[in-house]
Amino acid sequence: MNREEKLNNIVLIGMSGVGKTAIGKYVAEKLNMEFIDTDQLVVNNIGQSIAMIFELYGEAYFRALEQNIIESLTDKEDVVISTGGGVVLNRKNIQFLKKKGVVFLLQASIDTIVSNIESSPSNKEDRPLLKDASNLRDRIKRIYETRKELYISSADVVIRVDNKSKELVGDEIISIFRQQPPCSCF
Ligand code: S3P
Repeated sequence: MNREEKLNNIVLIGMSGVGKTAIGKYVAEKLNMEFIDTDQLVVNNIGQSIAMIFELYGEAYFRALEQNIIESLTDKEDVVISTGGGVVLNRKNIQFLKKKGVVFLLQASIDTIVSNIESSPSNKEDRPLLKDASNLRDRIKRIYETRKELYISSADVVIRVDNKSKELVGDEIISIFRQQPPCSCF
């Protein structure tokens, strides 16, 4: 990546279950930054759960809400933004987020994702794209395959999270974020 300017925000992208929220909260707390979860903002705005929004209005409506929420972050500075797994599906989201901050892709193996999601059953229920999957692993794999290129091309930095604690991953993010302006490691 060739980022000339110093960016004040951290953006986390990646599949459901890679730990964006937990890691984002850890990083925000450690850097004394505000933590923002775009899914949570959508929920707060509409007053319905993500699962309900999908059920009542469909995925396209959710994606439109997601884009509005992301664009509403224009004036935010010194924030850690955790995004929904499908944020990369809309190029406008990524163009916007890249202008706002350093985009970290949290990458996990399918096994890690499955195990993270399975260890918290409510997680699956809250995720409409996974909820009705008869085989969770296959569903996650299929979604990942369709998004893989988008994740990679959207990221400034790729961080592997397998077998790492949120503290370890968070500290890696902090160290790279502090190295700005970006070095060749970007
Ligand atoms: C989605 C992931 C979810 C949420 C919505 C759609 C996706 O967020 O935005 O259910 O398309 O992968 P998490 O990544 O926090 O699960």
